[in-house]
Amino acid sequence: MSWFENSTADPPSMNRCIEPELLDELPANDPRAIRSRRDLRRVNSLMGNVGVIARGLLDTFAERPPRQLVDLGAGDGNLMLRLARRLSPVWPNLEITLVDRQDIVSVETRRELEALSWRVHSVAADVFDWLARTPDRAVDLVIANLFLHHFSNPDLSRLLQLVSGRTNCFAACEPRRYPAALRASRWLWLLGCNQVTRHDAVASVRAGFAGLELSALWPENGSWHLREEAVGLFSHRFVAQLRTGVVVTPTKASHG
Ligand SMILES: C[S@@+](CC[C@H](N)C(=O)[O-])C[C@H]1O[C@@H](n2cnc3c(N)ncnc32)[C@H](O)[C@@H]1O
Repeated sequence: MSWFENSTADPPSMNRCIEPELLDELPANDPRAIRSRRDLRRVNSLMGNVGVIARGLLDTFAERPPRQLVDLGAGDGNLMLRLARRLSPVWPNLEITLVDRQDIVSVETRRELEALSWRVHSVAADVFDWLARTPDRAVDLVIANLFLHHFSNPDLSRLLQLVSGRTNCFAACEPRRYPAALRASRWLWLLGCNQVTRHDAVASVRAGFAGLELSALWPENGSWHLREEAVGLFSHRFVAQLRTGVVVTPTKASHG
């Protein structure tokens, strides 16, 4: 754990407020959407999300690497590529599935992932539909970055219920909902972010998480070890791991 990681949960300070994000409503090839996805890379860097996820996963899979990984709401796959640069030396030959409503993983990103020894499937689908048709415990690890905050609590409950039936481990990195992050999200014009990104950043913090809110929505039945914490200045990390240990499945995942 790095010096700035803080395992003390923030108390919920502002109520969750979910509003539509502009990037979700623009066609994938709209120039404003293309630019906003580029901005998102800088936002992820500013938040340090690749490191936040990588450290959480390396702690969780300290004994044995996973064989399959699914990224929900993976976007253009750039976050996964940066994760692969960090993890592939210790987790070679991973089979990854990038699930997003929009089909926006470029040939270059796919090639770079494959050059790092990770086999790539990308699926253009709604995550609820994809999870519903994925067999029980088919994947060792499911992750999500800047994705869960899109959903209202009832939809999130449904999503986490589906996820908990498909994997042994789930890790998410989301915006941390607190006043300093909200203030910072209003200054993204300083990074040159466009109007779409600036709108969505503020909306994302308002819809983000604090305290143990994701744990409260996880379908806890005593068999999961849950960790939820504020990390760095702007991120909120949640990791759910089956208490029996991370059972790495011997068979290949099935991908829809
Ligand atoms: C803020 S972006 C995050 C992308 C990526 N995880 C990252 O960190 O760069 C959210 C992504 O979720 C996708 N998305 C939103 N709702 C979805 C749904 N119900 N099913 C699948 N993808 C969805 C959007 O298309 C978008 O690419």
